[in-house]
Amino acid sequence: MQEKLQALAARARAEIAAAANGEELKQIQVRYLGKKGEITAVLRGMGQLPPAARPVIGNLANKIRDELSALFASRENELREEERRRQMAADQVDVTLPGRPQQLGYLHPLTQVMEEIAEIFLGMGFTIAEGPEVETDYYNFEALNIPKDHPAREMQDSFYFQADLLLRTHTSPVQVRTMEKMAPEVPVRIIAPGKVYRRDDDATHSPMFHQVEGLVIDRNISLSDLKGTLLLFARQMFGEQQQVRLRPSFFPFTEPSAEVDISCVICGGTGCRTCKDTGWIEILGSGMVHPRVLEMSGYDPEEYCGYAFGMGVERIAMLKYGVDDLRLFFRNDLRMLRQFR
Ligand code: PHE
Repeated sequence: MQEKLQALAARARAEIAAAANGEELKQIQVRYLGKKGEITAVLRGMGQLPPAARPVIGNLANKIRDELSALFASRENELREEERRRQMAADQVDVTLPGRPQQLGYLHPLTQVMEEIAEIFLGMGFTIAEGPEVETDYYNFEALNIPKDHPAREMQDSFYFQADLLLRTHTSPVQVRTMEKMAPEVPVRIIAPGKVYRRDDDATHSPMFHQVEGLVIDRNISLSDLKGTLLLFARQMFGEQQQVRLRPSFFPFTEPSAEVDISCVICGGTGCRTCKDTGWIEILGSGMVHPRVLEMSGYDPEEYCGYAFGMGVERIAMLKYGVDDLRLFFRNDLRMLRQFR
């Protein structure tokens, strides 16, 4: 009986040492020490032994049970530790590997230029106003003193949804919307950057382009306020050497109207191909807000007056960066766009 027990113990020790994982170890434990385990069976069978043998066998069986219990516990710890080490090795980060480069986004050059323009006017006390790109005939034309059959509509060939609903052809409707909202409060001092749409498509015209509108309404505003403001703008945008000049022009919603030129950014005014040897480059349309426009939007033209201007963002960007084809801005060619990071 004693030999049988010793053999059993030896077998158990070998199996415990060979257990590959916690699961296997558990099964071995059940087989020896469980309720129906082999050692348990020996201890339960003590009654059948002759009384003289009982203490010897009982002692031995208990000793073996305790020894095996301890072995199970330590093997379990060992296996757990091994598993932990394996996990750590698998999770390890090699800190000497070079990093993976992240693609950083950046703003489109037109957005950058538009923000730069806005920044300059914000610095002069203007605030930003916005209006819808889908506009009614009233705001896009009528309220700007461009009646239904007026030939001035032909300057801005438009995309229509319905007879009186279209994609705005300029940002000037924001003038009207702003005045309607604020009248008769003064001063009005806003810029309105945004997208506009016209049926044009060539190297210098795109069916969608960007404008920044400006509007100032107060008492005693004069053309010299307009000129001074635009001179400041031109110098901050293109450099301190800049000059501006006003050339008489026509817009139905301003009277008098003027095209504004800046000295040629390429030759500085001596004459070159870009300025067609004039030394000047046109950058925007402007004028004193027409009394009829003021009146329609709720300002008494006898008391209030103001100026307005509208500039093309693409044109400013082309001049600033020497881009000679406007379509480059819209082709999404990264070789072009990456230059503006
Ligand atoms: N809205 C005009 C255009 O798009 C520009 C302009 C704005 C002219 C404000 C005068 C005053 O051509």
